[in-house]
Amino acid sequence: MYLPLVHLLQLSLSPNVLHGQSEDYKNLATVSPYHDAPNVPGVSVDLPDDCTVDQVIMLHRHGSRGPVSEQNFILGLVETLDNARDIIRSTPLPPNLQFLKQGYEYQLAPQELTIVGRRELFDHGVEFALRYPNLSTDVVVSSPIQRVVDSSYFFAQGFFGLKTENITFRTVTDLDDPVSWITPWKSCPKFSTHQPHQAASRWAAKYVPPIAQKLGRLVPGINISVNDTRGALYACPFDLATRNQSPWCNVFSTRELQNLEYEYDLLMDGVSGHASRGDIGPLLGAFYVKKLIERLTNGTRDAEPLYLEFGHDTSILLPLSTMGLNKDSLPLNPDRVPVHRVFRTSQQTPFAASMVWERFTCKKSFEGPQVRLVLNGATFPLFICAKSKVDKRYGTCSLDEFARANEYSTHVHYKDESWNTACDIDG
Ligand SMILES: *[C@@H]1O[C@H](CO)[C@@H](O)[C@H](O)[C@H]1NC(C)=O
Ligand SMILES: *[C@@H]1O[C@H](CO)[C@@H](O)[C@H](O)[C@H]1NC(C)=O
Ligand SMILES: *[C@@H]1O[C@H](CO)[C@@H](O)[C@H](O)[C@H]1NC(C)=O
Ligand SMILES: *[C@@H]1O[C@H](CO)[C@@H](O)[C@H](O)[C@H]1NC(C)=O
Ligand SMILES: *[C@@H]1O[C@H](CO)[C@@H](O)[C@H](O)[C@H]1NC(C)=O
Repeated sequence: MYLPLVHLLQLSLSPNVLHGQSEDYKNLATVSPYHDAPNVPGVSVDLPDDCTVDQVIMLHRHGSRGPVSEQNFILGLVETLDNARDIIRSTPLPPNLQFLKQGYEYQLAPQELTIVGRRELFDHGVEFALRYPNLSTDVVVSSPIQRVVDSSYFFAQGFFGLKTENITFRTVTDLDDPVSWITPWKSCPKFSTHQPHQAASRWAAKYVPPIAQKLGRLVPGINISVNDTRGALYACPFDLATRNQSPWCNVFSTRELQNLEYEYDLLMDGVSGHASRGDIGPLLGAFYVKKLIERLTNGTRDAEPLYLEFGHDTSILLPLSTMGLNKDSLPLNPDRVPVHRVFRTSQQTPFAASMVWERFTCKKSFEGPQVRLVLNGATFPLFICAKSKVDKRYGTCSLDEFARANEYSTHVHYKDESWNTACDIDG
């Protein structure tokens, strides 16, 4: 009985528990602070001892950032609260809203990588160097957006240390591909005019108003609008992103935060192509998959042992969608949260997410080159090409089967018929 007591004591002192429900912090969709994905039951975490990883291709999302589209909602909330300062001071408030008496201080830097994000990337660089001590490169490639460039730099500091001064940092705009495999949507005009927001908005119209009413009851005398309530919901993840804690997270129930998570999932499921008509997402993701197969198979005879690349949540979700790895059998429902779903950005693309492809060979366990996907620290089973019992046990595939399962992608080309139909404004 001694050990469990110590355990409980530690729990009650841990800051996450003091400030809210720590498990909830992992389930804030694409705006979750980084956390490893859970291991899949029945799938081995490690490869057999006789295997050696000889090539690694990494695509890393930028770390925690300040708000972008969320910014105006949070600013609106701050203004409402400022205007009601006198009422708030004289009104009795429940314990989890007492912080409003001191005033809620907003100090978020929009869009940019935060200090927390900087640490996420540095730590991942260190962990990567420990995990793959024999692999190196002298080039790092990223999306040109500043928070991504910054992320690649802090990862490099962790991975290379002072040798970073001799590393070449490129952005996709320095490469002359007509379609970037990291930011393929930039070449597809229809993607930017595409509206994946409908399902998410429909869902928001359903779950946010009851929360606004609840806040109205808890803080009588001021009118907290639906938009202010969205601001309060967003303040939770963006305070976490900026200063590692937020008084707002504690204002919402687990269920309410799950509803926020689902809103982001509906949005990203639309963006990456599972819910949308016309399948732009899988088409765009094919450019990454094609590049991946070219590198894994060394088709051009100049493949490197290590690729370090940096992009966005969409950069990772598109190829997962193309390969059919995170697709639900029924499209996500904009009216209610399904009991189970495969598409889960909290696990697939939190801030500082990493998609790591390993090519490995073994003395006995497997014959010929094999492939494994490690997504946010956990083996993501490649069920699309697993054939044997050992494949299933390790979540892996032979390289041949992997290439065969992804033939669609190798046949996609810029300005071919499917590209023109999906992407061209006149198509
Ligand atoms: C790195 O290379 C050394 C020497 O070839 C080898 O002994 C070691 O097992 C390798 N480490 C990994 C993690 O592959
Ligand atoms: C960077 O490269 C230069 C030239 O090769 C070398 O003199 C220097 O020591 C390198 N810096 C580090 C930190 O390795
Ligand atoms: C809140 O809204 C009601 C109805 O629109 C209005 O009568 C009241 O004055 C508002 N209260 C504040 C504090 O703005
Ligand atoms: C709420 O925010 C949305 C998006 O910014 C805006 O279009 C809408 O007009 C706002 N609603 C109100 C009542 O201010
Ligand atoms: C790709 O093939 C070339 C030429 O055979 C070889 O030098 C290089 O090491 C290979 N790259 C990888 C990552 O296997």
